[in-house]
Amino acid sequence: MKLAKTVAEVKEAVRQWKKEGLSIGLVPTMGYLHEGHKCLIDRAVKENDRVIVSDFVNPIQFGPKEDLASYPRDIEADCKLCEDSGADIVFNPEVEEMYAENFTTFVDTTGVTEELCGKSRPTHFRGVCTVVSKLFNISEADRAYFGQKDAQQLAVIRRMVRDLNMNIEIIGCPIIREKDGLAKSSRNTYLSKEEREAALVLSKAINAGKKMIEEGERDGDKVLSEMRKIVEQEKLARIDYIEMVKWDSIEIHHKVDQPVLVAMAVFIGKTRLIDNFIWE
Ligand code: PAJ
Repeated sequence: MKLAKTVAEVKEAVRQWKKEGLSIGLVPTMGYLHEGHKCLIDRAVKENDRVIVSDFVNPIQFGPKEDLASYPRDIEADCKLCEDSGADIVFNPEVEEMYAENFTTFVDTTGVTEELCGKSRPTHFRGVCTVVSKLFNISEADRAYFGQKDAQQLAVIRRMVRDLNMNIEIIGCPIIREKDGLAKSSRNTYLSKEEREAALVLSKAINAGKKMIEEGERDGDKVLSEMRKIVEQEKLARIDYIEMVKWDSIEIHHKVDQPVLVAMAVFIGKTRLIDNFIWE
């Protein structure tokens, strides 16, 4: 496995692979890899001849008051996980390699970015779409893998690919959780012992909401209000949003009469965690 620091190195490998007629899978990540990421990499390895994992904390998707500086990093452990999983390249560029000083081009997907995380993080998806477009161009991948953990991100990327006729297949993968239900996230490392315990309210609320719908509740507001009640019982938790939207246009919706995404963002202390479920 190769650790590539420059775009040129990746492009060189890609040129060779294309010449040999090999298929390429891409797994975009911000590193500090865990089993959620590994699940995407394993699937990519299974479905493609060659796999590139990008490992880049993308500054332009963080707001000015967000955790860019403290975002956890461990490139050595990431490389080991990628190598063990059978990836071929880990692409870990410096910021200057991705964004020249006079970088002025952005990819802005509207509509699907208005609600949920797009509302609380107004420039976030512009940063995501821009870096993901760059990664698609650099890797010339046939398939790219994204987790349902970031369900809105998955919907936004699918929309961008459709709208801009990008030649790549987007594969969504299920949420990987800790044994006790907490969705795996690089940001879980921010949690103190007490906060880690409190963070269980997210999956508790998710399970309760899912159960209500499975048992026949079709009034979205009733489901959301029960979920909010559960989160509000935890004193370390502060709700950013708990909403139901159409899957996958991400428009607010009140009835469970078509595929819906029920998504939440909750602060546990200073750490913002997200979780969701899709009902189809
Ligand atoms: P990051 O948060 O590192 O996540 C990389 C990919 O792993 C995303 O597609 C995310 O949905 C998936 N993932 C994370 N935790 C998961 C879990 N518990 N179960 C399943 N999948 C999980 O998302 C980003 O990075 C960035 O926005 C990126 C797309 C790389 C652009 O910078």
